[in-house]
Amino acid sequence: MRKQRDNVSATEWAPGLLQWYDRHARRLPWRAPPGAPRTPAYEVWLSEIMLQQTTVVTVAPYFEAFLRRWPRVEDLAQAPLDDVLTAWAGLGYYARARNLHRCAQVVAFERAGRFPDTQADLLELPGIGPYTAAAIAAIAFDERAAVVDGNVERVVARLFALDTPLPEVKPEIRRLADELTPQARPGDYAQAMMDLGATLCVPKNPKCILCPGREGCQAHARGIADSLPRRRPKAEKPTRYAGAFFLTRPDGAIWLRRRPEKGLLGGMIEVPSTDWRGQVWSDGEVEAIAPGSGPWHKLPGLVRHTFTHFHFHITVWSARAAPEGVLETNEEDDRWVLPDRLSDVALPTVMRKIIDHGLKNI
Ligand code: ADE
Repeated sequence: MRKQRDNVSATEWAPGLLQWYDRHARRLPWRAPPGAPRTPAYEVWLSEIMLQQTTVVTVAPYFEAFLRRWPRVEDLAQAPLDDVLTAWAGLGYYARARNLHRCAQVVAFERAGRFPDTQADLLELPGIGPYTAAAIAAIAFDERAAVVDGNVERVVARLFALDTPLPEVKPEIRRLADELTPQARPGDYAQAMMDLGATLCVPKNPKCILCPGREGCQAHARGIADSLPRRRPKAEKPTRYAGAFFLTRPDGAIWLRRRPEKGLLGGMIEVPSTDWRGQVWSDGEVEAIAPGSGPWHKLPGLVRHTFTHFHFHITVWSARAAPEGVLETNEEDDRWVLPDRLSDVALPTVMRKIIDHGLKNI
């Protein structure tokens, strides 16, 4: 076993991969082409935070918009949090946006606008975990740091044909990934591993025929690349249910509200709703707690959304408000927003879906 593992050695693997990267690196807005000066730490940090749990295609326009609006970390630090949350809307995992803002403030106000240049010091900053610290250290500062994300896990699991399932196999992957990481060009190497995982060493039907590491790959040799890494079957996600209250004024403005600071979608704007619970709501239950005077009508269909830990099914109830839009529940955080001004508020994707459903069906 041990002998087979030695097939892939750092001295063979990294140079071949870097050669491949020099020809095939994806052009990405936050990425210096191979050989060009390194991307500034601010841009590496911003892109890496955005890329957590989100695809390159989704992130690109957000990254460009953020950089246009806040070209330096000081600009982002001085922006009101609400502007940052609004610009982030649609990227999901909104705690990331709050941490992003806090981190910008620490770097701008406590560190004179300079990001720490080592993995260990980067870890001290808000919202920066081991992956992000390693990525920034390698890409922005050329530190030899092993950068291990989901793509890299897959590449390493296949190279060494590791058949222990995730997540148990993670420590072994981490150790092997570290052994493979070269002293030279660690930032390009990290991004080469990510690109290999994203373009050739993909989860289904990997394109082994084009892979620069084909010859040293244990999984390829055994014809099992497709089935690695193995995963423990995940528990089924539960479903939560809610009824949302889509209240519109005669001028078309929609009643929205700010969510509490703490918890899921903290501080973001929402369509008011019942509790989100594990049991389906009957029509009578929703009507009994519907705000204002109504009358409320249940719209046909259902809005579905999936969060990390649960599926969410929402029925949408509609009513017309008086022109001035007075509500019994009129609190500081309630607001009326015209449909063409929705991009001015911090609206998570699930709320956007509810509003689109409301607008289509009333
Ligand atoms: N995913 C996360 N970070 C990335 C990067 N720097 N390049 C490509 N894909 C990534």
